[in-house]
Parts: sequence; C-alpha cells; structure tokens
Amino acid sequence: MNRVLRACALQPVDRTPVWFMRQAGRALPDYRAVRKKYDLPAITKQPELCAEVTLQPVRCLGVDAAILFADIMTPLMAIGVDMRIVEHAGPVMATPVRSLDRVRRLRPIEPEQDVPFVLETVRLVRRQLSSEVALIGFAGAPFTLASYLVEGKASRTFDQTKRLMYSQPDVWSELMGRLAEIGAAYLKAQIAAGVQVIQLFDSWVGCLSPDDYRSFVQPYSRQVFDALGGSVPAIYFGTDTASLLPDMAAAGGSVIGLDWRVQLDEGWARVGYDHAIQGNLDPAVLLGPWSAVEAAARRVLERAAGRPGHIFNLGHGIHPETPLDNLVRLVELVHGDRR
Ligand code: CP3
Repeated sequence: MNRVLRACALQPVDRTPVWFMRQAGRALPDYRAVRKKYDLPAITKQPELCAEVTLQPVRCLGVDAAILFADIMTPLMAIGVDMRIVEHAGPVMATPVRSLDRVRRLRPIEPEQDVPFVLETVRLVRRQLSSEVALIGFAGAPFTLASYLVEGKASRTFDQTKRLMYSQPDVWSELMGRLAEIGAAYLKAQIAAGVQVIQLFDSWVGCLSPDDYRSFVQPYSRQVFDALGGSVPAIYFGTDTASLLPDMAAAGGSVIGLDWRVQLDEGWARVGYDHAIQGNLDPAVLLGPWSAVEAAARRVLERAAGRPGHIFNLGHGIHPETPLDNLVRLVELVHGDRR
C-alpha cells in the first residue's frame, strides 16, 4: 500500500504523504502551456491530454497523489446543464436553477455514456502511475454543487441558496437528492475505472450553521458515502468548517480535510481520532518567502505530532501565482520529516 492509502487507514508511514488541491493548475508552467491551446472542458474531453495534465504535478513536484483533472461541474455539464467556466470566476450558469421544474430536468447520470472521457482518463493515468503514487478521484458534494446551480455563479453569502433551502424545502430536498444520486453514480464509475481514493469537495458548506448543516445537507452527503459502501477511502473536505467538523465526520468518509482557519491538532480532536485528517497549510503562505513557508509547514507537522493518519495538504487550492520553487521545496520538507 502506498503512503496515501496507509495514512487513510491510520497506518504508520515512513514519511508523511503530501499532495495539493488544485495541484494541476496555473501554478505549473506545463499546465499554462496546455491552457494556451485548450480551455478546461476541452482538456477533460481529450483523455490523453487530460491524463498528461493529471500527471504533470507528480513529475514536477514529487507529490504522493495524482488527482483526476476535471471540475466539480464536469458531470453536470455532461447531463446538459448549460454553463461556462469563466477564468477567475469559476462556473457560471446560463440561467440559475431555482424551480421544481428546473430541478426535475437534472436527470440521472449514466457515466459510461455521459462521461466516457473521464473514465478513460482514469484508466490511462492508472496505467502510467507508479504504485507508490495514489490516484484520487473526486466529485462536488451536493451542497457545493447546489450553491453554484442556485446562485448561478460563485457567491460570498449564498443568499439565494439559503432562500431556496428555507422557503421551498421540497424543492431543496429534490435538488439535493438528485445531486447525491449523480455524485454517487459518478464516483462509483471512477472507482470501477481505477481511482484508489475519492474526495468529496464541499468547499462552501462552511457558510451554514451546524443545525442547518445537519438538517439540510448532512443526509445527502451521507447518501453519497453510503452508496460507495467503503469500497475505497473517502476524504470529505470543506472550508470554514471548524464548527461543523464533528457533523461532517458523522456524515461518513474516513478522512476529513481541514482548512487553515483551525489548528490541525484542535481540528483533529474535534473530528475524532478514529478518522484520518488532511491539511492544512494556508495556501496564501506560499505567496511569501520560503522562510515563511518553512516555518508554517513545520508548525503543521508539529501539530500532527507523528500520529498515524495525517495527509499533508493545503487548507484550500493552490493560488495561481504561487512560485513553483516554494511548492517543490515544500514537498521536500514534508518528505524530509521522517516518521
Ligand atoms: O488539481 C486539481 O485539484 C484537480 C482539478 C480540479 C479543478 N477543479 C480544475 C480547475 C479540481 C479538483 C476542481 C474542483 C473544484 N472546482 C472545486 C472544489 C475545490 C475548491 O477549489 O474549492 C470548486 C469549488 C470548483 C469550481 C471552480 N472551477 C472554481 C472556483 C474555479 C476557479 C476559477 C479561476 O479561474 O480561478 C474553477 C476553474 C478551474 N477548475 C481551474 C482549474 C485548474 C482554473 C481555471 C482554468 O485553468 O481554466
């Protein structure tokens, strides 16, 4: 078993495994070169190119995992939701989804027909990847997908999403149920194609109170994890989740992703030591000098204290302007901290 899989299973490792959210992205010169020719949807639809983009950070940074290159909106685009991915803004809907009629147009996904290119990418990457490096598949969690569909674009306050949740609970549960079903089918197909770990991205769930998380979100995230039946380790990640961690851990998943707003040791205690954790260096620290990166990374490792079950990562995705050298040195630092 490679280091990532061992850490997911709370087993000791020789060195702390490390990978970065958004590691295949604009911080890499190789990625920027590909993006000059093709946009994100075009990359995902060409399995050989997409496999190459997925593998770039493994070669360039020496990380312990590759994460499938796609977007959380890829499966929704594939079932016909009209949207664009706009540079610096993210997903933007042609029209927001706010009615029962629109929700009912979200049909179930048939991965072999709807996203064959994603599954082919997984197969190609597995064939090229050393067994020492894990392949992580992923999907957007129902709440975070719903927030883009309902708001129509990125949001800070999620007012429209909350308005729908509070005022039309039936529409909300229909929407969340359909997104959970799509997410589960999409992840199962990735697992069948060869991903060894999955991550459920609930990036914006931290905008909710713990009560609302439990009532309006947790059952649907749980539905996704339950459908996978523990066939591979599952990582559940969100930002601004310090107050939600125990409820997120209860939703399922064997690893909980922490953002940087919580201290790793406190976060792990809240999650519970029966779960592994992933995190949690502030990605903005990497915009500073190496001395700042080094100090902050050592603090993360000290707080993990060598306890089995830590996967080093950032608290959110890499900023596009991050100096490559800081990323390379950070991987070396984490690997140099022998267990
Ligand atoms: O390396 C990896 O992490 C794998 C690929 C990946 C992408 N998006 C590629 C991408 C993953 C795992 C995602 C997930 C994703 N997409 C999330 C969850 C993780 C998170 O960051 O919270 C979310 C919220 C999205 C929605 C989205 N798509 C955003 C916010 C953006 C950024 C907009 C921008 O231009 O800064 C995108 C576009 C996107 N997805 C890019 C990449 C590499 C950058 C734009 C591009 O190259 O065109």
